[in-house]
Amino acid sequence: MKHFLKETDFARSELPKLFALARELKRKRGKRGAPRPLEGQTWAMIFSKSSTRTRVSFEVGIHELGGNPLFLNKNDIQLGRGETVEDTARVLSRFVHGLIVRTFDHSEVERLAASGSVPVINALTDFLHPCQIFTDAFTMTERWAKGTTGAKLVESLRGRKIAFLGDTACNMANSWILGANLFGMKISLAGPKEFAPSAEFKAHLATEKFPGGGSYHFTTDPFEAVRDADVVYTDVWVSMGKEDEKQERIRVMSPYVVTAKLFAAAKKDALFMHCLPAHAGEEVTQEVLDNPRSIIFDEAENRLHMQKAILATLAAARR
Ligand code: CP
Ligand code: NVA
Repeated sequence: MKHFLKETDFARSELPKLFALARELKRKRGKRGAPRPLEGQTWAMIFSKSSTRTRVSFEVGIHELGGNPLFLNKNDIQLGRGETVEDTARVLSRFVHGLIVRTFDHSEVERLAASGSVPVINALTDFLHPCQIFTDAFTMTERWAKGTTGAKLVESLRGRKIAFLGDTACNMANSWILGANLFGMKISLAGPKEFAPSAEFKAHLATEKFPGGGSYHFTTDPFEAVRDADVVYTDVWVSMGKEDEKQERIRVMSPYVVTAKLFAAAKKDALFMHCLPAHAGEEVTQEVLDNPRSIIFDEAENRLHMQKAILATLAAARR
């Protein structure tokens, strides 16, 4: 069973087809003859955290592919009252064709995948957010590989440098380290040393089959990280579930605001990206969010197209 719990659940060799499909689905959206590979299927979405982009893009995407999205707030189902993850996976597998899960503990998506008999997609855990990273990479290829498709799309990522600022221990930072290694990109991260990539993440990275075990560069100097960067990326400083640490996080991360000055220290044609939601005035200034090289809303839109490609690919892998 093919799942999408982490970036490396797709081999590099599978990426050209996936990215080309996302581009095709984007082009054909709303047109006659647009593919409907989920016809007759229901995909359940179990969410334990808030969401705007992920929820809406999956619900709309499943519908556009001919399927039926079934949104389940964790607290509305027995899982929220103590029914086991394993029994939930076994029961839902009797009804639906796939599970899309947003939760806290990453092991929950792994346990659902291990116990159920349908594909599972990670819609964000505390550890990783792979749907966002694949979407972001696809969004970069729209800028760097205009008018091409397939292998050339993915090749346009190779050797590019991404700089990730702020909370470099969060799900987005972890996922971008995996993504950069998968796509052949370089990644520099800058944040407070107490928010450097965690021991848990480093242990995981060592298990991945990247040449040399996977690489990244961490520094506490934001200007060092953005030097020669093709993309400057940030995320909120207070991820969902970390609200109790808000004051301390804002205090230690304040040197890592993406200001116009910091953005200008990257390559002169560098792109600014953010998974959103953004907190203007915290991790990034409004001026940078509004910069013509800020592609945050293309990124948001592309969640729809890339996730449709992922859904179609996982559904096809079952046939
Ligand atoms: N970027 C992202 O996942 O946004 P939501 O939390 O709104 O889904
Ligand atoms: N790191 C953020 C990402 C939100 C899309 C969080 O987990 O809240």
